[in-house]
Amino acid sequence: TVLIVDFGSQVTQLIARRVREAGVYSEIVPFQSAEDGFRRLKPKAVILSGGPASTVDMDSPRAPQIVFDSGVPVLGICYGQQTMCAQLGGAVESGHHREFGRAFVEVLKASPLFDGVWETGQKHQVWMSHGDRVTRLPDGFEVIAASPNAPLAATADEARHYYAVQFHPEVVHTPDGAKLLSNFVHKIAGLKGDWTMAAYKDQAIAAIREQVGDGKVICGLSGGVDSSVAAMLIHEAVGDQLTCILVDHGLMRKNEAAEVVAMFREHYNIPLVHVDASDTFIGALEGEADPEKKRKTIGRLFIDVFEDEAKKVGGADFLAQGTLYPDVIESVSFTGGPSVTIKSHHNVGGLPERMNMQLVEPLRELFKDEVRELGKELGLPDSFIGRHPFPGPGLAIRLPGGVTREKIRILQEADAIYLDEIRKSGLYDAIWQAFAVLLPVQTVGVMGDGRTYEYVCALRAVTSVDGMTADFYPFDMEFLGSAATRIINEVRGINRVVYDVTSKPPGTIEWE
Ligand code: XMP
Repeated sequence: TVLIVDFGSQVTQLIARRVREAGVYSEIVPFQSAEDGFRRLKPKAVILSGGPASTVDMDSPRAPQIVFDSGVPVLGICYGQQTMCAQLGGAVESGHHREFGRAFVEVLKASPLFDGVWETGQKHQVWMSHGDRVTRLPDGFEVIAASPNAPLAATADEARHYYAVQFHPEVVHTPDGAKLLSNFVHKIAGLKGDWTMAAYKDQAIAAIREQVGDGKVICGLSGGVDSSVAAMLIHEAVGDQLTCILVDHGLMRKNEAAEVVAMFREHYNIPLVHVDASDTFIGALEGEADPEKKRKTIGRLFIDVFEDEAKKVGGADFLAQGTLYPDVIESVSFTGGPSVTIKSHHNVGGLPERMNMQLVEPLRELFKDEVRELGKELGLPDSFIGRHPFPGPGLAIRLPGGVTREKIRILQEADAIYLDEIRKSGLYDAIWQAFAVLLPVQTVGVMGDGRTYEYVCALRAVTSVDGMTADFYPFDMEFLGSAATRIINEVRGINRVVYDVTSKPPGTIEWE
């Protein structure tokens, strides 16, 4: 095990992720409880994360002394480097040498940290982000790499296996960073790289059992990958102490609710309450055209329906959520200052307090691609795991204007054909998200010998890494032509198809 002591960096989870990628188990422990964590885990190595504090302040956080007394290898990153040097007898200076962004370090000395990656005399790109810097090294340390602005960019006490770096090896902007971290855990700490997602699964299950005990858990299932993987994991951990609730707002993709119900109830035998609340939702959305009001209405009704159903099954002690790590960072980094609400996202916020439930969030440490891997480990079919993201408010935000059953039917049909064409062309996995939008606009057409006056369907497809920015997908015209022809021929109610070539920004992925 590698113990990662968290001093509050935005990217501490990336350290854990890189260690996982090197096939080694790690646990992140906040610096306040790092001593307990160390005693409990008996780690073979420790990594001290970055963080916003300054070691120059008297009460700034410190690594527990036991880490240095134990004799295990230690890697300090950024703030971790500074506190390590300060605690071992070096000096740190504040303020004057702030450095953010790309820098180049020159390798001055061979080290197991650089083994097979960097050679002496070479220059390599790294990512810096710091306000303070170390000015005097503790006894036994020497400089192994330097940059013009950070003469002590990488330092080592090879005898004690202590390494301290000013830059961030865990981020992708330090292109060789993952290899340096892998050297630290394999070559320096001597850990084998035999840890896998299967092991992660077992640990997550043990952690859920410990948290939940013999309590009851409910999980809102949306049909998406995240909530499904969370539910599967919890079911493996506590079996029928888990009840899943699918609030079916009638705004899912064609056949999706039925598929999810069949998969969970019949295939996996997981208790699932399927609530058909479509009349309630569609009724409330019928005359509403304002996108924010639509979103808020759906959010409010979702909580009402979910709460009612949860009461019917006798309540629960825990609410399970498929929160991912990027959701956690986003919510943390936005608390600092005023940010503009572009769209109010639909979630079950407020529900745990209202119903006096504790949260179970087994995916909080993972990234989307890791969740997909975990889903495979749990036996979810590939076709399900690879699904494009789908927004909580569903098709309501792909139908500008008021929502009616007829419009939902038209949109579901068009969307299904479009996705079918994409799958047949082998493009599904190259696209982050693809969907149809039904415009509240009718245009004149001619079909057979008659005049038509029907709706316009817009097609959208984007590539993206995380949904925060996106580029429209450059289909070839032949593909678009055949998808459009099929939609117009097969879907009653549409006589024209257009393609959306807006990226994000300035557009958003969804239309509302
Ligand atoms: P936008 O439209 O903001 O979408 O560019 C970015 C990503 O988020 C999804 N999305 C949502 N997901 N609840 C969700 O769970 C929502 O209210 C919501 N709104 C947008 C969208 O599908 C895209 O993947």
